[in-house]
Amino acid sequence: MRARITFSFLAFILSIACSFSQVSIIPEPVSLQQKEGKYTFQSSIKIGSDASSKGITEWLKEKLTPTGLPVSIVAANEKADISFSLNKNANPTIGKEGYQLISSANGISISANQPAGLFYGAQTLLQLLPSAIESKSPVKNISWSVPAVEISDYPRFGWRGLMLDVSRHFFGVKEVKEFIDDMAAYKYNLLHMHLTDDQGWRIEIKSLPKLTSVGAWRVEKTGTFGTFSKPEPDEPRTYGGFFTQDDIKEIVRYAKDRFINVMPEIDMPGHSLAAIAAYPDLTCTPGTYQVNSGEQFMVWPPNGHFYGLLDNTLCPANEKTFEFVDKVFTEIAQLFPFEYIHMGGDETARNFWEKSDLIKALMKKENLKNLDEVQSYFVKRVEKIINSKGKKMIGWDEILDGGLAPNAAVMSWRGMKGGIEAAKLGHEVVMSPTTFAYIDYMQGDAMLEPPVYATLRLSKAYEFEPVPEGVDPKFIKGGQANLWTEQIYNMRHLRYMTWPRGFAISESLWSPKSKKNWNNFYKKVESHFARFDAAQKKYAPSMYDPEFKFTKNDKNEITVEMKTEVPDITVHYSFDNSFPDNFYPQYTGPVKVPKDAATMKVVTYRGDKPMGRLVVFPSAEMKKRAGVKDKM
Ligand code: ACM
Repeated sequence: MRARITFSFLAFILSIACSFSQVSIIPEPVSLQQKEGKYTFQSSIKIGSDASSKGITEWLKEKLTPTGLPVSIVAANEKADISFSLNKNANPTIGKEGYQLISSANGISISANQPAGLFYGAQTLLQLLPSAIESKSPVKNISWSVPAVEISDYPRFGWRGLMLDVSRHFFGVKEVKEFIDDMAAYKYNLLHMHLTDDQGWRIEIKSLPKLTSVGAWRVEKTGTFGTFSKPEPDEPRTYGGFFTQDDIKEIVRYAKDRFINVMPEIDMPGHSLAAIAAYPDLTCTPGTYQVNSGEQFMVWPPNGHFYGLLDNTLCPANEKTFEFVDKVFTEIAQLFPFEYIHMGGDETARNFWEKSDLIKALMKKENLKNLDEVQSYFVKRVEKIINSKGKKMIGWDEILDGGLAPNAAVMSWRGMKGGIEAAKLGHEVVMSPTTFAYIDYMQGDAMLEPPVYATLRLSKAYEFEPVPEGVDPKFIKGGQANLWTEQIYNMRHLRYMTWPRGFAISESLWSPKSKKNWNNFYKKVESHFARFDAAQKKYAPSMYDPEFKFTKNDKNEITVEMKTEVPDITVHYSFDNSFPDNFYPQYTGPVKVPKDAATMKVVTYRGDKPMGRLVVFPSAEMKKRAGVKDKM
């Protein structure tokens, strides 16, 4: 009898567990309790709120269009399906951006201290609805229900950024707004716009019109950026574009409505070829310059110091440079309400400074011992200018070299060490290390992915932990992922590069460390893929493709090891040139490559469903990776 009671009790618990539909919120909330039951919208949806949440309820109304149900906004004291309430700091635990969401058979309520919290609560609500809510048009024959839950949620960090490079390839207002919408869905709150670089100046500066009439345009090239042929003198320079100041105001307003700040980056003194093409007197070596069209002009020796084949740096020994900087930041400061301006500061090639008599004279006059100190002199003067416009300055971690400007914040990209050093000096830090947060890198094997010089897999991005040991967390404002667009030519590929790694970074920046769990995360990623499918948005399925390691023995026999990020898929391979499927040999451990194999082909499955893409390794590639040299 006892055994039977225990069994029926277990069956009861199991039946409750099984009656729960899977909840997949990214980023993972601080606290989420799933309850029995659900709330189903019937013939209409009423959203109840007072006037203070109007923008959010109007936005939500629009987002609920795919339900096909009439949606109306009613007063806060009327009966509603979804009730918003703003409790003006009544709940200190959830802070400025947190929210509470309770759904039950009786309805859904979202409460917060501030409007940002209501917005994030509404984003979570959308993630609780079926993925068809992301469809472009109404979807019929769906039960529009929300599982019963109690959620209390707030972010770990106040700076949750994504950087978009609009210089290397220009993405306009429409695309930036789409990027902002995606960011908001995953609770990012900072869009860092990399507005200037060697390949284009992308923002109208009224007092310096040539920045955009000359600096925004280059020759159109397609292929592998960085390897393009040199433009002919008569090739049209019609590729590119820029944001007018009205465009920028529109972007800033659109982002603000979604609780996202916009931070401009004007990269200097390096990466300035577009500005120099417009105003060549800004270099220490005036001449004729053109905006770079993707042909090589910087050299990166494997273990040496990089240098420029032409001078793409602003001249710190020229007062005209600082007049230019002042004009630019006067207008930038008026356009962007965010408290920080990013001045770049990265990757300055100093080989032209080294030879410049102007720089030598400056070093003597200012008692600067080396080129690090010359750059630091420049950065400190730029900080004074930025501060004089009522803004704080942030720069890439090279601004530490030669001495950090007194009030500067540091964005640590060459790993975490710059951030650690800056925090130890008492400066504010944003972590965006290449090792975890460079989402322009390949996300799988180079045989499959569009070529970039390094790889960052999803599971590695998910390991991002912005607070290093031994550092006072109060200096770490948060983190961000950076999307450089040298190899990104269109919006579909832009999304492919951003998602799902953008999910991983968002969870690292919002969720408590203790709530992060890869095995839960990758399953949630799969359900968000379904949401992207419904929205017809691209994403990278690279987590289903294996990692490969080729080694050789002293007889030059090659062995291949394969590993998957996702644990519940199987890897199948062939060496006979035919296409493997799930009936082919399954990888269970290191495999010896047959001596005469011309190719290895690999694919992954879950049960009988293909998951990964077909990877083909020609023999020459396997030999190269294993270090086998062909006999002459
Ligand atoms: C950078 O990636 N050069 C900041």
